[in-house]
Amino acid sequence: MTNSNASRVSTELTEAQIAVHWQEQELIQPPAQFVAQANLTDPAVAERFSLENFPECFKEYADLLTWQKYWHTTLDTSNPPFWRWFVGGLINASYNCVDRHLPTSKGKAALIFVPDSEDESHVSLTYQELYVRVNELAALLRDFAGLKAGDRVTIHMPMVLELPITMLACARLGVIHSVVFGGFSGQAAGQRIADSQSHVLITMDGYYRSGVPLDHKEKADIALAEAASEGQAVDKVLVWRRRPGQYLSNTPMVEGRDYFVDDLLRDYRGSRVAPVPMPAESPLFIMYSSGTTGRPKGCQHSTGGYLAYVTGTAKYILDVHPEDIYWCMADIGWITGHSYIVYGPLALGTTSVIYEGVPTYPDAGRPWRIAERLGVNIFHTAPTAIRQLRKAGPEEPSKYNHRFKLMVTVGEPIEPAVWYWYYEAVGKKQAVIVDTWWQTENGGFLCSTKPALDPMKPGSAGPGVPGIHPVIYDENGDEVPAGSGKAGNVCIRNPWPGSFQTIWRDPERYVATYYAKYCKDPQSKDWRDWPYFANDGAVLAADGYVRILGRVDDVINVAGHRLGTKELESACLTVPEVAEAAVVPVADEIKGRIPEVYISLKPGFSASAAIEAKAVAQIEAIIGKMARPKAVHIVPDMPKTRSGKIMRRVLAAISNSMSLGDVSTLANPEVVEEIRHMVQGEEPVAVKEAPEDIRRFGDE
Ligand code: WTA
Repeated sequence: MTNSNASRVSTELTEAQIAVHWQEQELIQPPAQFVAQANLTDPAVAERFSLENFPECFKEYADLLTWQKYWHTTLDTSNPPFWRWFVGGLINASYNCVDRHLPTSKGKAALIFVPDSEDESHVSLTYQELYVRVNELAALLRDFAGLKAGDRVTIHMPMVLELPITMLACARLGVIHSVVFGGFSGQAAGQRIADSQSHVLITMDGYYRSGVPLDHKEKADIALAEAASEGQAVDKVLVWRRRPGQYLSNTPMVEGRDYFVDDLLRDYRGSRVAPVPMPAESPLFIMYSSGTTGRPKGCQHSTGGYLAYVTGTAKYILDVHPEDIYWCMADIGWITGHSYIVYGPLALGTTSVIYEGVPTYPDAGRPWRIAERLGVNIFHTAPTAIRQLRKAGPEEPSKYNHRFKLMVTVGEPIEPAVWYWYYEAVGKKQAVIVDTWWQTENGGFLCSTKPALDPMKPGSAGPGVPGIHPVIYDENGDEVPAGSGKAGNVCIRNPWPGSFQTIWRDPERYVATYYAKYCKDPQSKDWRDWPYFANDGAVLAADGYVRILGRVDDVINVAGHRLGTKELESACLTVPEVAEAAVVPVADEIKGRIPEVYISLKPGFSASAAIEAKAVAQIEAIIGKMARPKAVHIVPDMPKTRSGKIMRRVLAAISNSMSLGDVSTLANPEVVEEIRHMVQGEEPVAVKEAPEDIRRFGDE
């Protein structure tokens, strides 16, 4: 399925056609004040990180870290595509993010927590306090929870200081953490507990969002039931309290299973745990992500290669200096938060801000007040948040005296108009912008401009970052030349240290999804024969800048959250009345894409609002509220090919008011007009041009 789906990218698409929505933009030079202080100003970096100098070039990143034992082999390619970086090295991620900064920076803020409520004060945690709290918790995890190197722990927590503390305590012991985004439902957490075979769940009683207290512990009970149904027993649930001593949840604590962490910690006051020397290629964490099938993939990341890569890219692309105040508004429960709130910034000894709430609460000036108050000078967020802030408060940034030197956009393509607002209104034309393209699988950035060296081009991510060599292939595996104006599948020619090692417990799927398509010779031990297939469509301009067009698999990017259409469809199929389900993306002004659901019912049932509501409820229960569909349409029948395959392309065209194309070859062409009528009304709505990923959605 993956292979045939990739053919959706029409290689005949011209730059001019793409430009219907997205004109090729002028280049903008980085501000001089930025360049004057930047970490990376030497143009020779291109030569240093050229393919001729691969893989030794990445020694430069490894040398940003403190090794317990230095490595002997930069890259071992003996078992492609299972690359091993910095072989022979021993390293501890917690030591690198905490202990090594103590001699110079004990009293400096490592993390600043900004609560949801503006009336509550910020909490600064110094490197010394972080050291103490990580050690005490590590002792608890080892001695009370019985965890040791190689064990997996599922962490389902909101954006609070205790989340990075928990991750770093695991890393100190060599325990593999699997952080599940707090917005995921209990069932989704349970599936991930089962897949990772975690015996311990670490969670929190509750948290606040837009002034509302949310019960989070209730999800733990659902998660444990789900994990048990898949055969995975959890023997301890460690519950942090948002306010120690007060319980914010209505769910009872289960005797002998659930424990308040703040209570247990009293016994570990003053404990110190020596950072366990871990082989560079031992896993640091698993992060689940969506793909083509209904089952999320556990992307397994290494310790040494991953940490080296996020540290190097945070230094050169985010331009993090130890004295910066850095704020990334992503959630730590996603890869951006792991790499660029926790590991990269802390390894560089800077101050990283953690915000509990949403960007527009209590109003669209909140981010700029936070930035002004804390002196944030590097700001990192996603196009969805930028669009929201622009819509709700276009003039707000001008009311505050924040001053950014660098701003980041990540997670979705950014429209030039939105980019310009970010640049002019938020950055006041003084901040350089990096549009960073990458994925959960990659550990760190793949494409971005080098902020002091390359001009910005609104709407384009930029060239490969140092040591990353992108290439666009067509369906036949032929290279699409730069500047040809043709779209294709973006791949990376070479391995890099931040890349995931495998899919947890599913190495075949790792090879099949990312490497099989363009592998030149499955027997080859030469990395040159194993380009990485990103599952994104893209266009490469003559200047080497990559413009990402979106996914070529069955993933919908909803407000920067990666959702698998198959996961949503399986959730709908748990409603007893539902016979078939098809999910398609709909373009949305703020969130980029939103899922829309089509279902058909089993014989004997008729359409009702109650069934629609059940489908929505199941999606929220099985995945989470962020997957809530825009609409549920109960249709008399699905449009199908003669072989019985649901034509999702036709449904996507109806949902997005696109031209339907030729439907005469369907097994049931008459149903198409019936569905169109249901969704659009009496008169067909004016045909619109749709973005590339929607135009090709569901193609064979
Ligand atoms: C999309 C997030 C355009 C892309 C770090 C990718 C982007 C998916 C960009 C990965 C960008 C990410 N411009 N599209 N700058 N960054 N994407 O795994 O489709 O949550 O495949 O990782 O987001 O999402 P993920």
